[in-house]
Amino acid sequence: MFKTISLPTQSALLKPPFVFGVATASFQIEGARESRLTCIWDTFCQQANTIADNSHGDIACNHVELWQQDVAMIADLAVDAYRLSISWSRALHQDGTINQQGIAFYRNLLTALKARNIKTYVTLYHWDLPQYLEDKGGWLNRDTAYAFAHYTDLVTQQLTGLVDSYATLNEPFCSAYLGYEIGVHAPGIKSQQAGRQAAHHLLLAHGLAMRVLRKNCPDIEAGIVLNFSPAYPLTANDSHAATLADQYHNQWYIQALLTGHYPSLINQLSNDVKPSIAEQDMAIISQPVDFIGVNYYTRIHYKNTDNHWFTEANIHDAVVTDMGWEVYPQGLTELLVSLNQQYQLPKVYITENGAAMADTLTNGQVLDYERVNYYHTHLNAVHEAIEQGVNIQGYFAWSLMDNFEWAYGYEKRFGMVYINYQNQQRTLKESAKQYRAFLKQRNHGC
Ligand code: NOJ
Repeated sequence: MFKTISLPTQSALLKPPFVFGVATASFQIEGARESRLTCIWDTFCQQANTIADNSHGDIACNHVELWQQDVAMIADLAVDAYRLSISWSRALHQDGTINQQGIAFYRNLLTALKARNIKTYVTLYHWDLPQYLEDKGGWLNRDTAYAFAHYTDLVTQQLTGLVDSYATLNEPFCSAYLGYEIGVHAPGIKSQQAGRQAAHHLLLAHGLAMRVLRKNCPDIEAGIVLNFSPAYPLTANDSHAATLADQYHNQWYIQALLTGHYPSLINQLSNDVKPSIAEQDMAIISQPVDFIGVNYYTRIHYKNTDNHWFTEANIHDAVVTDMGWEVYPQGLTELLVSLNQQYQLPKVYITENGAAMADTLTNGQVLDYERVNYYHTHLNAVHEAIEQGVNIQGYFAWSLMDNFEWAYGYEKRFGMVYINYQNQQRTLKESAKQYRAFLKQRNHGC
């Protein structure tokens, strides 16, 4: 096991402009529920059997109150950048006008980060749709895509000069598939047709927002963040299953974005499941982006089913994290290299990578060496992908601190910083210290 983080001395990751950062998302850390509108996750958390520990995001890491302390903590880690998301429910009122108090929070936060020379990577949508829009159909309603463009318009005007990089959406797969197709995320809808339609409207929202970004802030880079769980066949006979799963879960998004076409699998879907697509949609969806954000945690194995579809399968003896996800760093290299072969990727950021571990705070310390090892091996996998020609320009650890892990509540800890939810005390884990040491050494070297 690697107990420190290091890279080959000639690694491109060690030189500017490669950006190292940490990431979070609004609903997962902010709290201050009373000072924003209700979002779909507030509603979902109120329902029975949705969140493993029956928790919610009302307080979370109380970041809205403790943000100054958190900015100091981010700066102390010696990172170049911080990736955060804006809560639509905090930034806008229900009548679609700016919530001055809400937007002031983000302005103050971004100003403080800039004052410390930390680059700001802002995601406009990380799953927390205002509930009043869900009441009108949410992502099943085409109008939501236009509402997102309106929100993007207002927010970007308010944040002029404070943002270095905009991402429209975070992981539309999760919003669509987990939220509308299998219902394990908000809003909890279980329908294949709904999942496919939501995915299409999310991608449309991305395209419409890209147009706004190009108009309002032409000098600021803009793109989208996608998650990939590369699909591997369980046995040599299961390659059909792996190909289908890859098209259904991964390629569905990136192929539409980079080529303007959904994967050929769409032709296998029955007419009542296929999304309805208006004439100009694919052109709007596939306009050029400056970067693709790649979130990577693990790979998944698949096997064929009797009805020529695919199903997930577990391999034995895999090393797994506290999520039960296999630790497979080569998967990150393989993913990046194969996507690059397929699409000649634009600039790539690894916008999320990290591991949940069953951390314990003992004598003021969290010795999370498995997480240190995870970061070491995955950073080396990124290095390898660059060596093989992929244009990767940044890496963000998920996450800065422990937070609300969606359907798992607070039981799963992804942070480099440990949160004591009783008193909101923050404690740097060993992984944070190792990341900082690695970054300080790097900064020293260049
Ligand atoms: C991806 C999501 O963007 C983030 O919100 C989540 O906490 C991590 N994956 C870990 O599951």
